[in-house]
Amino acid sequence: MSEAMNAPLRTREDALALMERRRSVAANGLIEPGPTPDELDRLLTVAARVPDHAILTPWRFIVIAGAARAELGARLAEAYRAGNPQMEDAKREKFAGIMSRLFPAPVAVVVVSRPNRDTMIPPMEQELSAGAVCMNLLHGAHALGFSGIWVTGWAANNPEAMRLIGLGAGEKVAGIVHLGTAREVPPERPRPDLAALVTQWTAPEEA
Ligand SMILES: Cc1cc2nc3c(=O)[nH]c(=O)nc-3n(C[C@H](O)[C@H](O)[C@H](O)COP(=O)(O)O)c2cc1C
Repeated sequence: MSEAMNAPLRTREDALALMERRRSVAANGLIEPGPTPDELDRLLTVAARVPDHAILTPWRFIVIAGAARAELGARLAEAYRAGNPQMEDAKREKFAGIMSRLFPAPVAVVVVSRPNRDTMIPPMEQELSAGAVCMNLLHGAHALGFSGIWVTGWAANNPEAMRLIGLGAGEKVAGIVHLGTAREVPPERPRPDLAALVTQWTAPEEA
């Protein structure tokens, strides 16, 4: 057994307790302090430690922090206006305003899915690996005492917004993960009822 797997029971219980308690916090409820550069390096290292069929590394990161948040927000707002000329002015301005404030948390990490098409590994498996990156990032942040949320939305799916964020051909946004300190952690939300989701396999009765 590896050193980590052999960790004292207390450490393993702590790790599980963190996963049992983690809750997402809306981006506008994430305030300073955010992760330091060293902490962010550590978080991205944890995020990159995911199952990856055939070791393709089918994902990468774009970090949006500091002044870049407002700068990119302004460009996204402009792209929203330009892309929706038919929309009623007030409505267009309302959504453009939302785009301009899209990065309120101290740090946002865009997890970019970039499936390798020259391989037998199906794109879906590679996209799932990118999803695992997002989840590891959230768990890692929580373990360091931060909070976060995994979102997508217009900016993650609109071609011009994706270009402004820095995506290239064949790339998609797996998630925008906002990170910071929770102003307040929201109450628990309903969780899935395992009894309704878990079945035990039994051999089908032959007709
Ligand atoms: C791929 C993906 C995209 C999501 N996009 C959004 C989003 O754009 N806006 C949003 O409010 N929640 C979005 N969510 C949901 C939140 O990440 C989160 O699941 C929700 O706030 C519940 O929080 P929990 O982590 O405490 O269960 C998304 C989730 C996933 C997996």
